[in-house]
Amino acid sequence: MNAEVNTSTVTALILAAGAGTRMKSDKPKVVHKVLDVPMIQLVITAAEEAGCERILTIVGHKQEQVRAVVPDTVECVHQPDQKGTADAVVVAADALKGSTGYLLVMCGDMPLLRPETLRQLIDVCRNRSMAVLTAQVDNPSGYGRIVRDETGSIAAIVEDKDASPAELAINEVNTGIYCFALEGLFERLEKIDSDNAQGEYYLTDMVKVCRAEGEAVIGLQLTEAEEAHGVNSRVQLAQAGQFLQKRINEKWMEKGVSIVSSEMTWISPDCELEHDVEVLPNTTIAKGSTVKRGSVIGPNTRMYQATIGEDCAVEESIVHGSRMGDRCTIGPYSYIRPEVDLGNDVRVGPSVEVKKSKIGDGSKIPHLSYIGDATLGEKVNVGAGTITCNYDGTKKSHTTIEDGAFIGSSTMLVAPLTVGQNSVTAAGSTIGEDVPEESLALARARQINKDGWVKKKKEGR
Ligand code: UD1
Ligand code: CA
Repeated sequence: MNAEVNTSTVTALILAAGAGTRMKSDKPKVVHKVLDVPMIQLVITAAEEAGCERILTIVGHKQEQVRAVVPDTVECVHQPDQKGTADAVVVAADALKGSTGYLLVMCGDMPLLRPETLRQLIDVCRNRSMAVLTAQVDNPSGYGRIVRDETGSIAAIVEDKDASPAELAINEVNTGIYCFALEGLFERLEKIDSDNAQGEYYLTDMVKVCRAEGEAVIGLQLTEAEEAHGVNSRVQLAQAGQFLQKRINEKWMEKGVSIVSSEMTWISPDCELEHDVEVLPNTTIAKGSTVKRGSVIGPNTRMYQATIGEDCAVEESIVHGSRMGDRCTIGPYSYIRPEVDLGNDVRVGPSVEVKKSKIGDGSKIPHLSYIGDATLGEKVNVGAGTITCNYDGTKKSHTTIEDGAFIGSSTMLVAPLTVGQNSVTAAGSTIGEDVPEESLALARARQINKDGWVKKKKEGR
């Protein structure tokens, strides 16, 4: 091997051109989600965390849908016909022209690989042409079998469909993850033919090519075979979710998070929890949410793109695209919709919907209300059943409620509107005009009592 090779550069190549027929889906396999993250994104993250400096993805079947879920930093290369895994690498030749170092080849349908494992494989490949990640499995059917020579290096990888009975009995399988030295790689790939049971260009035949050059191929065996779990069907997709769920929940428990029921808690890999957070059953924390220390989330709660401060309680509620400060309490049965910004010590009680609003410190919306397109100052109290009437059928209008204001129960606040500092609206009012500060606004029909009306009616008078 050329010692001049820049060993610090590793490029990842993710194979994702296949259709994934067994998923029986209109979507390409790699866009299916595991814990709310597209499978291919999990593979990309593992490559990034393993230190790969550049990431390429081979796309083919329904490529637009794959391109749509991969980040801009990942380059997509189109493979027009899926002629086999070796062909999939060959189509990246132009994109990799002039690149040095190593190429880590991964499959887009293996979402459980750990970055540490990938780093180990790269290390094993240092100053070699090829290293293969292998796994010992109970049921090897469908996988390429690893045939080792007397020295322990890999003599061949034999596909299921090409294997002899003796080879079929081998339990060590090819995971489909490899590291190659980029130097000379494409010249070697040219030597691979499609003379096999499937008539495909097999990347696994690189073993033969390397050995013909007198190079030993090293196999790195996984200690935890689950990492190589591949997703080919919906059943395997669900299994991947369960493996990842357990792995993530155990990670947070080790960091001081209490999770009452791991089976009933779904935390996406892109979320952050601090110590002393408690997660109660049937709770989903997804899409980059953050929960700060001491907060209790759940039961029966879902949050997406949410930032929860310290010592909050979010019970039986949905929080989506919003943030809150410290010591807030939400729910039960509340819906915090996008662009809501709650200060500290805010109470949003049962059956309250809040949308695109800023709520100041210490304010309370304790029961059954709709607050949308509003700015509430500090220590505002919103009575039960209050509604910001923000939409006239054409446009949305804003409501401002200044510090210390008290909104009586069942107030209709017809926006645009400002309720001044420390003012009070009478219960049952429909407020359509600004209320000056320190004032009472009363806007409801005067009550009339008709003495004896019921009695007279009964007597037919
Ligand atoms: C491959 C390996 C097998 C290994 C198994 C592990 C070969 C010949 N065999 O078999 O030894 O045990 O993976 O899962 O490599 N792909 C493309 N373009 C192609 C062909 C495939 O992008 O032309 C992609 C697929 O989308 C998939 C991956 O490569 O992500 C693997 O291809 P697949 O056809 O599933 O290979 P296997 O038969 O499973
Ligand atoms: Ca496969």
